[in-house]
Amino acid sequence: MSVIPESAPVAAAFRPFPAGFLWGTATSAYQIEGAAAEDGRTPSVWDTFCRTPGAVHAGDTGDVAADHYHRLREDVELMAGLGVNAYRFSVSWSRVQPTGRGPALERGLDFYRALVDELLGHGIEPALTLYHWDLPQELEDAGGWPARETAERFADYAALVAGALGDRVGVWTTLNEPWCSAFLGYGSGVHAPGRTDPVAALRAAHHLNLGHGLATSALRSLLPDTARLGVCLNLHVVRPASDSAADHDAARRIDALGSRIFTGPMLDGAYPEDLLADTAAVTDWGFVADGDAATIHQPLDVLGLNYYTPTVVSAPTGAAEPARADGHGASDHSPWPGAEDVTFHQPPGERTAMGWAIDPSGLYDMLTRLSREHPELPLLVTENGMACDDTVDPAGAVRDPQRVAYVRDHLDAVHRAVTDGADVRGYFLWSLMDNFEWAYGYDRRFGIVHVDFATQRRVLKDSARWYATVARANGLPA
Ligand code: NOJ
Repeated sequence: MSVIPESAPVAAAFRPFPAGFLWGTATSAYQIEGAAAEDGRTPSVWDTFCRTPGAVHAGDTGDVAADHYHRLREDVELMAGLGVNAYRFSVSWSRVQPTGRGPALERGLDFYRALVDELLGHGIEPALTLYHWDLPQELEDAGGWPARETAERFADYAALVAGALGDRVGVWTTLNEPWCSAFLGYGSGVHAPGRTDPVAALRAAHHLNLGHGLATSALRSLLPDTARLGVCLNLHVVRPASDSAADHDAARRIDALGSRIFTGPMLDGAYPEDLLADTAAVTDWGFVADGDAATIHQPLDVLGLNYYTPTVVSAPTGAAEPARADGHGASDHSPWPGAEDVTFHQPPGERTAMGWAIDPSGLYDMLTRLSREHPELPLLVTENGMACDDTVDPAGAVRDPQRVAYVRDHLDAVHRAVTDGADVRGYFLWSLMDNFEWAYGYDRRFGIVHVDFATQRRVLKDSARWYATVARANGLPA
């Protein structure tokens, strides 16, 4: 008879990750930098949106944020102390090319040169994102992403950043979560610039795709062969609420609008036929010009996946409020053009402080799906993490066991995907530190480092210490 009770947990063995795996944290410019009006930076759409009454929780802004602009050395030291070997950050377009056109502002570029040098000096590989939602306001005034010209300006801006940092940055991603830029920015209006027009949202999606293609082609000709080019997508892991054909069809529609609208043209060279049919009543897609498909379809070296939670949908039930149950923020306007009738469901079980269901199997499913559909394309998890109601306890510690469990279980899913053949090269935890969480302002904390926004004091949370052990060991503990 075994002395081990049947209910005893089976101890998992140490799970090593592939050699050279990137262990990083991620941030974005507007969410941490502050210094919004310094050194020639001009307003982006988020500076403007934050000043729109009712748009952002408590009227919060990114004016100061985590003051990273003045604390880059201290923050890189923090990372180095964790033993991570990579860092994903974004460049603020309006800091380095204030009007969105014309010459670079060297003072703005100097900040990123200093940041990258500091990272390299500590053995941390920089992974640069060119666009994390902060369009220069002047370009929005000229039409924003629904206008074709914005895609062209984005390629110019990409070239200018490549000229300044091309000799020292190895991983380049064009856009962060273009789904949010298009459909939350121009559809439901919960993100900047706060427009609520389904046609503008679809136009924006196309011009973001085009901007990605133009920028990738510019980067390809300017950067050394060793540079790895890609994009960060928040592909929706969509599940039907039941096995009915109607629910499967609802899932297909949201998969088209939430994921294949980007992967179709970027990776396969065309918009999916079903997407065009589903949205035909909204637009005839006349804004797609001859040649755009080829421009968008650029060879990529890496695909970044941002994953937090799955999406559960059913055919219209008439019961739920579709635009409100999809985890993307409250609005009277749906971010799903042509699929406004689809019903979104909250899966049962544990949720994060964002209200998002915790389900690591979604990450496994998406990584294995991508590696099946695009076996040649290396993958990076460019964001994953959890908002918790963190507080500093009287002893000065931040106990966040839920975040440790969340990250551990998602890393376990990554490990399983790798074991099953997915070519995943790295994981970037969102986020290095607490920051400006868009429409939620400072009311949601995603960091593994706690920030006291009154004093800017940084305190490592338990999750930071735990993540450090994983990064140093290049594997999950037994
Ligand atoms: C996705 C975005 O890229 C990032 O800016 C945001 O803070 C996190 N998800 C959490 O919502």
